[in-house]
Amino acid sequence: MRLIYPADTFNPKVVDEIYADEFVAAQTAGLSISIFNFEDFQEGRFCPRPAIQDGEPVLYRGWMLPPNDYARFHEAISAVGGTPVTDVSSYTLCHHLPRWYPLLTEFTSETMTFSESDDIALALTEAGWKGCFLKDYVKSLSTDAGSLVHDLSTIPNVIAKMRKYRGQIEGGLCARRIEEYDASTERRYFVWNGVAHSDSGEVPQIVAEAASRVLSPFFSVDIATRRDGALSIIELGDGQVSDRKHWSCDNLIRMFATPA
Ligand SMILES: Nc1ncnc2c1ncn2[C@@H]1O[C@H](COP(=O)(O)OP(=O)(O)O)[C@@H](O)[C@H]1O
Ligand SMILES: [Mg+2]
Repeated sequence: MRLIYPADTFNPKVVDEIYADEFVAAQTAGLSISIFNFEDFQEGRFCPRPAIQDGEPVLYRGWMLPPNDYARFHEAISAVGGTPVTDVSSYTLCHHLPRWYPLLTEFTSETMTFSESDDIALALTEAGWKGCFLKDYVKSLSTDAGSLVHDLSTIPNVIAKMRKYRGQIEGGLCARRIEEYDASTERRYFVWNGVAHSDSGEVPQIVAEAASRVLSPFFSVDIATRRDGALSIIELGDGQVSDRKHWSCDNLIRMFATPA
């Protein structure tokens, strides 16, 4: 398998510095690695260096892509002879909350999905909700008061801020029940080829359950303990575009060497 990373914008010969440590860990572990110029790709040119070998499985580690762009990326890898590890439908399954939510409903915050033109405050009021955690299909708002909405009439302002800071609303909007997580208990796990991995310690049952229900080759599972003591899934993410968070580069790279 070959890992592929975005290059530094100003020096396309080296990996973007955000991935530099991981790149070195992968190199040290003897994995095949390429870098590609992300801006070139956006403009329709895809020229990974070193070149991808014919039939080689390719796993991306880089910026989040909307599903349409991921589909173009998938095509670009295939066009140079590679076989993307994650197909477009598996990517979207973990990248977009409304896709994975039905598979894990009982382990995560209750969620209602909306389009941008819906009157979300009205719908939530009719459903008896007094507040919500509002995000688009992918990301929350991490500025100011953020995604926590205690007064439903402020929802249009929160959406306006999402548009401003994220550039767009991806997919649509998700209103989630506000949970009280103990922030110190938030942990990220990765599922690789159906097996859940922890950077240290045991894998909780809830994560193993996600690994068995969600059929995608590589994804992250974030969990935390709620105030009532129950473990809860905060979100899933496609592993290719997930931060390592508390994971060491070596642990992440070692995981890729484990058999399915
Ligand atoms: N339903 C919720 N209620 C309260 N806080 C939440 C809820 N969902 C997420 N959070 C908090 O907000 C943070 C960001 O939410 P998350 O869904 O992971 O969005 P992002 O995609 O931006 O990382 C989480 O780490 C968690 O602390
Ligand atoms: Mg998150």
